Amino acid sequence: MDYYVLTLFPEMIEACMKTSITGRAINNGYITMNAVNIRDYAANKHRHVDDYPYGGGAGMVMQAEPVYLACEDIKKKTKKNPRIIYMTPQGRVFDQSMAKELAKEEELVFLCGHYEGIDERAIELEVTDCISIGDYVLTGGELAALVVMDAVSRMVPGVLSNEESGKSESFENSLLEYPQYKRPEEFMGRRVPEILLSGHHANIEKWRREQSLARTAEMRPDLFKKAELDKKDIEYLKNNIKNLQL
Ligand code: ADE
Repeated sequence: MDYYVLTLFPEMIEACMKTSITGRAINNGYITMNAVNIRDYAANKHRHVDDYPYGGGAGMVMQAEPVYLACEDIKKKTKKNPRIIYMTPQGRVFDQSMAKELAKEEELVFLCGHYEGIDERAIELEVTDCISIGDYVLTGGELAALVVMDAVSRMVPGVLSNEESGKSESFENSLLEYPQYKRPEEFMGRRVPEILLSGHHANIEKWRREQSLARTAEMRPDLFKKAELDKKDIEYLKNNIKNLQL
């Protein structure tokens, strides 16, 4: 996966992506990271990229030209016509299924806005997708692009080791993950649930499934709309969770 990020703060993107698992993936050649400074495409000598909006109103808007030129330049450098993703609270809300879908691309370009947004014409001309990471407003698209790249990178083959990429994860089949325990057997007076020490695999699977169902019911009942539940799941929920609407 080759990432390109158009930003006014390339050092923010680079520092984060070079850290931890994404950093290892870069070193091992599974992903590449190209942070491009939009300011390098500003025509004026002060390298300004923002201006007051037509029609008045608060804040500054990023000008169309440097954004457009930066996108065009990147398109020349990439192999195919890559998806150009504008990070904005007005976009489609990001989730795990989008992470999996984006991980199939060879190249992704992220456009990070600052100030009060980007001139609409640059968006119309260049952007293929708009993504939001949730219903709140950040000071810029950088943190949002980092969130998306982190989640997408985990889905790129080779990025996670076998140990890291266990298949039961939160949102796998739209349920939250069951609780995990490691050594020691007792910590601050709290014991690991006996069933996990029993060695009885079928009972352990059943317990884990029920924990997933109970957590989802408590924290994210909205996920049940998408989850595949069998008869046993529904019976467990009916018998154990009060007032749940499926
Ligand atoms: N830029 C500002 N807020 C954002 C959000 N919630 N998601 C994506 N990009 C953003």
